[in-house]
Amino acid sequence: KIQSLKSAYEDDFLIGTALGTEHILERNEKANRLIKREFNAITPENIMKSQIIHPTPNHYNFDLSDKYVEYGLKNGMYIVGHTLIWHSQLPAFAGKIKNADSLRIFMTEHINTVAGRYAGKINSWDVVNEALNEDGTLRKSVFLNNLGEDYIKNAFDLAAKADPHAALYYNDYNIEQPAKRKGAIELIRKLQAGGTKIDGVGIQGHWSIHKLNLQEIETSIIEFSQLGIKVAFTELDLSVLPNPWDLQGADVNQRFAESPAMNPYKDSLPDSIQTVLANRYTDLFKLFLKHRDKISRVTFWGVDDSHSWLNGFPIRNRTNYPLLFDRALEPKKAYQAVINLKTTK
Ligand code: G3I
Repeated sequence: KIQSLKSAYEDDFLIGTALGTEHILERNEKANRLIKREFNAITPENIMKSQIIHPTPNHYNFDLSDKYVEYGLKNGMYIVGHTLIWHSQLPAFAGKIKNADSLRIFMTEHINTVAGRYAGKINSWDVVNEALNEDGTLRKSVFLNNLGEDYIKNAFDLAAKADPHAALYYNDYNIEQPAKRKGAIELIRKLQAGGTKIDGVGIQGHWSIHKLNLQEIETSIIEFSQLGIKVAFTELDLSVLPNPWDLQGADVNQRFAESPAMNPYKDSLPDSIQTVLANRYTDLFKLFLKHRDKISRVTFWGVDDSHSWLNGFPIRNRTNYPLLFDRALEPKKAYQAVINLKTTK
């Protein structure tokens, strides 16, 4: 009898979750029991981002990241590092750098210090995060502006040197969409052509029950794996709420307002929508299983609905239901659906 997500999918791919500070510090016994029972991979939702771990030039906060890595080791989990080079959540001092030499020094020290500290313990690093625009071109950032596109190669080469055993991933959202996917493939091909080590691509998977393009996801799994790398779904969640960017007609202020219309399931999620969520997760996991040989890991972006970032984005103070566990840390219908795929033919 199947007892958990991780045991259901043990022959297929890892099943991960993102941990917040409260999980790392084991502040909630029920949540931590659930994490250990259901997941065999972990990602730090925020605490390894450079702004938090490296706030000023010579100061690093390793307290929480040490505990995070210990948590993974103690529980025999696959430990992901997230993330080394990202234009967002950068320490203020790094964002202000205006020349190539200083930025190169920042990158080198940051990667050597952080990846070096956990060498041999972190199983995989999101080395570069979100470097692409929606049209597949490289995003303007302090890194691109000062160092040109080579910053991506430099980051991967530094990470490979600092931790030769970690799997190295490029991680981004919407790279299952054609134009951005094409940009990602080009980026990865260039790294490979230059002899840089890259082991996988992370498709984040911040999707919605209203809009889930399985065809593009499948094409992406196939095309990325044809590059000889693994595909991971690194930040999976399915919003059930209206997406202001998808709404036509209404004016922008209305679409982005903290209004009842934009927060329709404030008190509870109707059964009918629970079922839609379960069906969308079923479709996704069927697809993942079909391509299990190409997929290394599927990680949910959070443990339960209560602390999902989607309660606050892109409109604040909403009640979203994107994950497999509810606010009482009980499995939802979608959880059972994902498990059932492995028990019923
Ligand atoms: O902890 C502080 C708190 O002290 C402060 O009072 C409060 C005021 O804004 O902010 C709190 O920090 C917030 C942090 O989440 C912890 O809750 C930050 O403002 C907020 O920006 C941060 O958001 C995170 C976001 O990345 C930006 O780093 C989300 O939790 C996190 O889920 C999200 O994760 C990203 C991935 O790393 C990359 N891919 C997209 C994904 C979703 O945006």
